[in-house]
Parts: sequence; C-alpha cells; structure tokens
Amino acid sequence: MTGQNHKLWGGRFETGLEQWVEEFGASISFDQKMAEYDMKGSIAHVTMLGQKGIISQTDAAAIKSGLEELLKEYQEGQLVFDISNEDIHMNIETLLTEKIGSVAGKLHTARSRNDQVATDMHLYLKAKLDEVIEKLDHLRKTLVYVAEKHVDTIMPGYTHLQHAQPISFGHHLMAYYNMFTRDSERFAFNKKHADLSPLGAAALAGTTFPIDREMTADLMEFAQPYSNSLDAVSDRDFILEFLANASMLMVHMSRICEEIINWCSHEYQFIVLSDTFSTGSSIMPQKKNPDMAELIRGKSGRVFGNLFGLLTVMKSLPLAYNKDLQEDKEGMFDTAETITVAIDILAGMLETMTVNKERMAESTEEDFSNATELADYLANKGLPFRQAHEIVGKLVLECTKNGHYLQDLPYERYQEISNLIEKDIYETLKSHTAVERRHSFGGTGFDQVKWQIEEAKKTFK
Ligand code: ARG
Repeated sequence: MTGQNHKLWGGRFETGLEQWVEEFGASISFDQKMAEYDMKGSIAHVTMLGQKGIISQTDAAAIKSGLEELLKEYQEGQLVFDISNEDIHMNIETLLTEKIGSVAGKLHTARSRNDQVATDMHLYLKAKLDEVIEKLDHLRKTLVYVAEKHVDTIMPGYTHLQHAQPISFGHHLMAYYNMFTRDSERFAFNKKHADLSPLGAAALAGTTFPIDREMTADLMEFAQPYSNSLDAVSDRDFILEFLANASMLMVHMSRICEEIINWCSHEYQFIVLSDTFSTGSSIMPQKKNPDMAELIRGKSGRVFGNLFGLLTVMKSLPLAYNKDLQEDKEGMFDTAETITVAIDILAGMLETMTVNKERMAESTEEDFSNATELADYLANKGLPFRQAHEIVGKLVLECTKNGHYLQDLPYERYQEISNLIEKDIYETLKSHTAVERRHSFGGTGFDQVKWQIEEAKKTFK
C-alpha cells in the first residue's frame, strides 16, 4: 500500500508500508492469543482513567461497555482481526472505534503499546503458571498413586545402565515425584515475577497524567506495579524464567519417557502401555510403539530451543522497548502449550500402564545385583569392607566363568571362602531381602518408601 497512511500511528508518515513489509512487522497472527488479556487490561486502564478524572466518567463508561461487548464477541468467536492493524492492541482499538466511534481514541491516554504488551504477557503467563502447577499436581499425585501400588515391586536399580542393586519400583517412581515437585516449586516462584504490573509505565518514562498504577494493578489482580518504568517495559525475565523452568521440566519428562520406552521393549518387558497411549506400524502388524513417550522426549528439543531463542533476543538489548521484543511471544506460547499437554500425556501413560511385576523381579534374580549384599554381609562380621569387596569380586568372576550366580554356589564353597559365612547367606542374597533391609533414610527399604509416600500425601489437598 502506498499513498496516505491510515495506521493508528500514521500521522507523521507520508506514504504507507508495502504489504510484504507490513506482513513482516505484524504480530497479529500469534499475539491474538492474548486478546482476552488485552481487553481486560484495557478495561482496568479505562476504569482508572475515569476514576481519576483523566477522562470523563461518561467517556470511560462508553469505552468500558464497548470493550465488554468486544470481549463477549471474542469469546463467541465473532471477532475478525486484520493484518493491516499489525498487532492485537491496534486490532482491538480499531474494532472499538468501529463500535463506539472516536471516543475510543481516549483509551490510549497515558498508555503505550509498550506497557500494554508487557501487561498482556504478564497476565497470560500468570494464568498459564497456575495451569501448569495444577497439571503438575495431578502428575505428582499419579506418581504417588502408582508408587503406592508398587512399594514391594522389585526391579533392578541401574548405574551405567547395568544392573546395580535391586530396588523398589515405588522408590524409582518417587524419585521422579521429587523432580516434579521441585519443578512445581520453581513455577510457583516464577509467579512472583509474573505478578507485577507494567501498566502505566507508558512508552518508557511514565506519564504526566495523574494515573494510579496501584489501582490498575489491583483491578488486574497483580501483587503490585513495577517500580521502574524502564524495567517495566523491557523486562522479559519472567518469561525467561518460565522457559528455563519448562526446560528443566522437559529434562525430567524426557528422562522418565526414555525409561518408559526402554521398559516397553522386548529386552525389558517391564511394562505394557495401554492402547490409548500407543500406536501401531503401517507395515509391521505386530508393532505397538511408545510414540507418545518418544514425542515428549523429542519435544524437549523445541522447549530448549525456545529458551535459547529468547536468551539470544535479550542478550545485549539496550533499554527500553525494541521491536526485537516482539519475538518473545511465540516461544512462550509454544512452550506453555507443549508442556501442558505433555504433562497430561505422561500422567495418562503412567496411570494406565500395566506393570509386569514378575518379570521385573525375575530380572533381579539372574544377575549379580546381590553382590553388594555378600560384601556387606562379610563387612558386618568384621572383615574390612575393601577385603570383602575383593573376595566377592573374585567370586563373581568365578561364577561368570562357570555360568552361574552367587545364590547358586553350594554352601561348602562359601565355607571355603570364609568361615564367617553361614547358612543365612542364601536369605541375604535374595532381592527382596536386599531391598527390605535398606532402612537408611531415603533408601529403597519398603519402610522408607512407604514413609516417602505418606509424606507426599500429606502435602496434597
Ligand atoms: N506488537 C508489539 C510487540 O509485540 C507491541 C509493542 C509495539 N511497540 C512499538 N513501539 N512498536 O512487541
């Protein structure tokens, strides 16, 4: 488009933007996700303008009811946005002008799109943080619920992906419970920085109008206004924190998903995912694939990418507002949408999976994961642990050569090795005994796992 410029900011221009340039600069295709927050922010702003006598009460009332109507129309899916109005803020103002006439032009008194967009983002993120925390609560409860059913389900505990020592499956799940609890705490802390109102910072320097920033903050249910107008319009820390917290969450989700994928494989056969969370192959009729777990693992890539994208946008950015900041939105929306669904999918998979208890336990019986038990047994009877370790190591080597396990050695052989070894060694070598006896605080002993579960339950409403 050339010729006279009809933009809301068109006054000082002689010609308009060409369409392809306009498209490059526009954000309406994605920032319309903040439409409701934009209108609610404007309602708070105009209420304050009226109450402070900055515009007349009559004008304020007209603008407010116009915005309320627009909000209703938006909720009914009736609003149509136009790319030539660039972003959500100017689209709403244009629609308002069409509805109530030129009085709509008073809405933007003592305000800029710079504080307006920051306000919308804070409102959006505050709501999303609550949603994420709620979903994490459900996931954490699910983990506790499944862990409780599997306190005495024995599985191999791994280090280096090698059988290390037998553990309780409930204990394994509770480790993830702890990770997601820390994630949830991080999102809760994130709320502190999302809970500040930028509105009234105007373009960057505040305003000469006698505005009341406390009032608008209260009306929008923010804890308080930002205390520095430059910071208010240029701060995106609250989003970076969210993206970092989401990345950490994705690290945790990708770890449990990786384990789920392993556990489903023919080699492990520890669990079977429900049909609802599995897919088939278009060529191999036998396949039942853990696609959803793989997808969560894969989606960690985009979430980390969104964090890195915004870090790069923010790096070296001078104060105050720069158009670069328009690049803060898509990554935030994408991350919020990705993690809220991923959390639900993970909870659903865990809730509905079938655990093959026998197979898990069996796999700790045909291995050397009881070697520490034998070394501890000798150490308990006074042998220095290093010597005990050496003896058992040699014995494991001997067993590997002869193709059997520690529990298969005859009693006579044990007596040759050490007269400290008595018949109770066979009981000691059982996986169940190995787990049961690990009473140390936070260990995998059944009593410890039950305690962890009880403590977790106390925190649930
Ligand atoms: N669409 C813009 C953004 O998302 C709104 C703020 C525009 N402000 C300006 N001075 N150009 O950042």
